[in-house]
Amino acid sequence: MSEKISPSKRQSIHGQWSSRLAFILAVSGSAVGLGNIWKFPYITGVNGGGAFVLVYLLCILAIGFPIMISEIMLGRRGRRNPITSMELLGREETGSGVWKFVGVIGLVAGFLILSFYSVIAGWTLNYFILASKGTFSGLLPQDVNQVFDNLNQSFSTQLIFHTIFMAVTILIIAKGIRQGLERVVKILMPALFLILMMLLFYVISEGNISEGFAFMFKPDFTKIDGSSVLAAMGHAFFTLSLGMGCVVAYGAYLPKQESIFKTTFAIIFCDTLIALVAGLVVFSIVFDNNLDPSQIAGAGLIFKTLPLAFGQMPSGVFFGSIFFILLGFAALTSAISLLEPSVAWMIERKNLSRQLSAIIMGSIIWALGLLTVLSGNELSNFTFWKGTLFDNFDHLATNILLPTSGFLFTVFAGWFMSKKSSSDELDINRKFQYKIWRFLARYVAPIAVLIIFLNAIGIY
Ligand code: PFF
Repeated sequence: MSEKISPSKRQSIHGQWSSRLAFILAVSGSAVGLGNIWKFPYITGVNGGGAFVLVYLLCILAIGFPIMISEIMLGRRGRRNPITSMELLGREETGSGVWKFVGVIGLVAGFLILSFYSVIAGWTLNYFILASKGTFSGLLPQDVNQVFDNLNQSFSTQLIFHTIFMAVTILIIAKGIRQGLERVVKILMPALFLILMMLLFYVISEGNISEGFAFMFKPDFTKIDGSSVLAAMGHAFFTLSLGMGCVVAYGAYLPKQESIFKTTFAIIFCDTLIALVAGLVVFSIVFDNNLDPSQIAGAGLIFKTLPLAFGQMPSGVFFGSIFFILLGFAALTSAISLLEPSVAWMIERKNLSRQLSAIIMGSIIWALGLLTVLSGNELSNFTFWKGTLFDNFDHLATNILLPTSGFLFTVFAGWFMSKKSSSDELDINRKFQYKIWRFLARYVAPIAVLIIFLNAIGIY
């Protein structure tokens, strides 16, 4: 695997994004997902609100920012799927192809994440139907809980929606970069933004935004410990889609003339803004309906507490329906980014067509997803380590695999890649930004990831 062609002239066989905007929308589409609207509010709830938000924002700036730049840069320089790009760049920069294993860790994480992500995305489809039929109107808390428990216990309902969601994901990937991914993000991302703004205006005029605001931004540092800092860091990786290789894969389709600094800034701004607004909307609705704050904790926030609120408020059928559509759109633009790297790998390494590769990889992930479906029913008593199979997949991928490969991506970019190569890729005219990136990528991000990680597993 050595190439005669100079790195800056390499091209991806999958084509390129048509514009900078298309790339920003695609990576933002990957970043903005269930992580922002479902996970961020609930882990903020579990970890005590404001102080957690602060630690999370720090992780985004000091760790997420340099690692995202590193990943886009590695993708664009390699112009291949994440595994092959790392092998190629490893050979060029260090003489060793062993770096491909960083890409392998990322791909494994992606498999695990998409397998449970699709099941949860399936729940949002199911909830959209329920909300639009007015199922939640006037229900009591125990009834709403029952709706969720019924879904969780039903193998067949989850199977149907998980299958629909994976099929749509496969279809989009099979159509390729411009006809599939780009077309979808150009429609869904503006739609998602519009729906979120509608919900925000609703809570500003009708909800309890001041209490929601206080919960999100008033820090209580007594609630912060090693494990909540790990959760904040793990979530920074998850929400920015880092460590998975999907940013590397998308970077491989970025035209050479585009500035990586500018695009990264826009993507991170967009992801953080949407997470904060979504959190504000969710908590304002919760507080406005005088719901029990203890219910804020846990994954049930979106599927138990919110439907209860939608069932009580005027126009709840409308707002409930658009909320779950919002979640579905956000999940879809992330799911395609989770599937693309392994499909790109299969096309390049096994010489199969894009359609067949998408079907094969998508089906394997679909089958793995059945274990998450079973975690709520047949296998709900099968618990070890962090809980059910689903809990373990989530913990292993989010808190262990993503930080590990994200750490290695940035160590490679900061320490093993020559200054000449990285400055060539990162726009040599932006000396100041380059210096900041290099400092963060070499020292701050790896050291922070290491300390948080060792602390969480009790070594440091
Ligand atoms: N960033 C997505 C979210 O916040 O929901 C999830 C995700 C997508 C994680 C892609 C990792 C990834 F590679």
